Amino acid sequence: MQVTTGMMGQGFYNRNSAPQMSAIEHVLPWLDAAVSALPLEGPGAIGLADFGCSEGRNSIALMQRIVPALRARTDADILTIHSDLPTNDFSALFRDLRPEGTSVFGGPGVSSCAVGGSMFDRLLPRASTHLAMTFNAIGFLSEKPLDRLPRYILPNGPSRLRGIGRVSEEEHRVFRQRAAEDIRAFLSARAEELVPGGKLLLQVFGAEGDRRTCDGIYDVLNDAVLEVLKVGGISRETYEAYYQPVYFRTLEEITAIAEADDMPFRIERAESYEAPVPFNEAFERTGDRAAYARDYTNFFRAFTEAVLRLSFAEIAELDDLVEDIYRRAERLVRDTPERYPFRYVAVAVLMTRT
Ligand SMILES: C[S@@+](CC[C@H](N)C(=O)[O-])C[C@H]1O[C@@H](n2cnc3c(N)ncnc32)[C@H](O)[C@@H]1O
Repeated sequence: MQVTTGMMGQGFYNRNSAPQMSAIEHVLPWLDAAVSALPLEGPGAIGLADFGCSEGRNSIALMQRIVPALRARTDADILTIHSDLPTNDFSALFRDLRPEGTSVFGGPGVSSCAVGGSMFDRLLPRASTHLAMTFNAIGFLSEKPLDRLPRYILPNGPSRLRGIGRVSEEEHRVFRQRAAEDIRAFLSARAEELVPGGKLLLQVFGAEGDRRTCDGIYDVLNDAVLEVLKVGGISRETYEAYYQPVYFRTLEEITAIAEADDMPFRIERAESYEAPVPFNEAFERTGDRAAYARDYTNFFRAFTEAVLRLSFAEIAELDDLVEDIYRRAERLVRDTPERYPFRYVAVAVLMTRT
């Protein structure tokens, strides 16, 4: 069963992913250190791969930092690889990689390509990649391990603050297990693709103690969907079968797998951290609730709408229903922002392929 078709396309994700870039910025010094230690010997091009690149704005910005640093170390050809699900909208990426008809990364020594496929599979030739990365993406599960999640729309459950809905311990265990297997599949695939000594930076939204990136955003989406249920826009059965197959991990849920004896990786750095959220900062500065509600809603709409559409695909007038749900969510945030505080907690692990 398809989990998601990707983010909202046609530039919408690019326009609404400043919080993700803010979370990436924290680990840029890690990337600099990784690039300065990459093994560069060997005949082929230096492969730099980003898994879960979406429409590419953040992916290209990252490569624009990495490529010059690498160029200072080597004249070898460089290949940037931008990968996402085959159903992802790659059109902005292709345009932005060659905006003036030449590579955005400079001279002819840098080539770029997009690869469609799931990051949980091996996608690249063996021992061809020097640096592999993934940002704000690996929380999307490879598959839905349960058909239904009847009392809430996310495996991690509602926030303590909102407390509407419930995910049982048994249900949560199934998702935790799926998420663990996904990390294992991702690391196994990258282990084959990376050269010995190559680096892997895995960063993703997550949870630490009672700070969880899922709180606020999924609470308001849940409340909006429940409103639609109440007015008869969807059936109880449809609500109970709908959930977002995304899992918010703790750092330990990643490092425990990376450290396993059969995993050919050495952990160099591992950290959970909180990233500043541009729309929170703007709200604090201006107090403009309408702008806050719009930016907050567009932010989570960019990564939840595709799943919502898959789940409600049978419903006639789907476009109207989807609009209605996000309009309701925006109104809820505008009228009661104190119910839906949002914080961006991320987890990151930098590893070396041994
Ligand atoms: C929130 S976006 C992150 C985009 C970008 N890395 C950033 O940080 O702005 C998550 C991306 O992961 C992709 N994704 C989800 N499941 C995936 C999978 N199994 N394989 C590859 N990409 C996946 C989605 O299509 C989406 O483009």
